[in-house]
Amino acid sequence: MQTELLPVTPEAIARGGELIRGGQLVAFPTETVYGLGANALDGEAVKRIFEAKGRPGDNPLIAHISAIGQLAPLIAVEPSPAARALMAACWPGPMTLIFPKSDIVPREVTAGLDTVAVRFPAHPAARALIDAAGVPIAAPSANRSGRPSPTTARHVLEDMAGRVPLILDGGDCAVGLESTVIDMTGDTPRVLRPGGITPRRIEEICGGVAVDDAVMRPLKEGEVARSPGMKYRHYAPAGALTIVQGEEARVIEAIRRLYDAALDEGKRPLILALESHIPGYGPRMALSLGADAAGMAHAVFARLRDADDLGADVLFSEAVPADGLGLAVMNRLGRAAGFHIVEV
Ligand code: TXA
Ligand code: MG
Repeated sequence: MQTELLPVTPEAIARGGELIRGGQLVAFPTETVYGLGANALDGEAVKRIFEAKGRPGDNPLIAHISAIGQLAPLIAVEPSPAARALMAACWPGPMTLIFPKSDIVPREVTAGLDTVAVRFPAHPAARALIDAAGVPIAAPSANRSGRPSPTTARHVLEDMAGRVPLILDGGDCAVGLESTVIDMTGDTPRVLRPGGITPRRIEEICGGVAVDDAVMRPLKEGEVARSPGMKYRHYAPAGALTIVQGEEARVIEAIRRLYDAALDEGKRPLILALESHIPGYGPRMALSLGADAAGMAHAVFARLRDADDLGADVLFSEAVPADGLGLAVMNRLGRAAGFHIVEV
């Protein structure tokens, strides 16, 4: 299959809408990461997403809408006051809500679950594509399964060339991490995947929030994941990643020692660090994760891909405090590291 890479223009959006209606796949930008879309009401089309990504069949997808009014037909309940408050405050935006599903949502989208995840993205190209298609669009991140999520059209092309007919290029994604996934089926909104909408913000909006405790640890033997995506080793670079956590000067000192020891063993180590710490690593090979948690959110997936391109076989990354947006950054870094976190 030939893969076309087109900048976002009205013609390209119209072409994308046609492909989606015809049961084909289109990769498109959102404010979080690039998505790999298909008609969410067509089970056969949705199967193509799993094939193109090599995604395990038991990991459900998010249905993307371009107006609040498109939610009702997809779900089997009236949204609760808490859900309505979240939608009013955070949609369109980087937030996904889980509700009991209606019968029109095929089982391919929800991987057999009786709930459906729905998001109204803010990115104008994503909204225009959904409008052009005239149907909700089911879309996971547009990476091959297990690879870091794509935050540029070039990342999508690296993973999907020959596997999708069209990639819409809308430049860099603003947030850089996937949406906050919130389960709305219980009494209290429960964060299953942290993202740009933080637990504190959710609490401000609807008075209560729970954060699933699987967010910052691997699943235990035999544990059933509330969000199936949590059980897979995600976002992983080819090299073995270790996260080093603790007081600033000690972290830099520890990473310098780990790097030097790896070099002595004949390995190709690489450091991921906050911009202001890079000079502290001297001549060692170090890539910047940006200035703070927001910078890290924006940069982390791209740097994990760079690490692969540089052929690094061991990686050492600094941590950020796991609060606010830092919780989302540490969730993704933690998963990439298989939660191999060293305290110094
Ligand atoms: O920002 C985003 O959310 C991006 C863009 C493209 O919108 N999409 C994305 O999709 O990250 P994906 O498939 O990579 O992640 C969806 C996550 C997975 O962890 C999945 O297990 C979870 O949402 N999920 C989807 N439906 C669910 C459901 N019914 N119950 C629990 N978890 C669900
Ligand atoms: Mg993904």
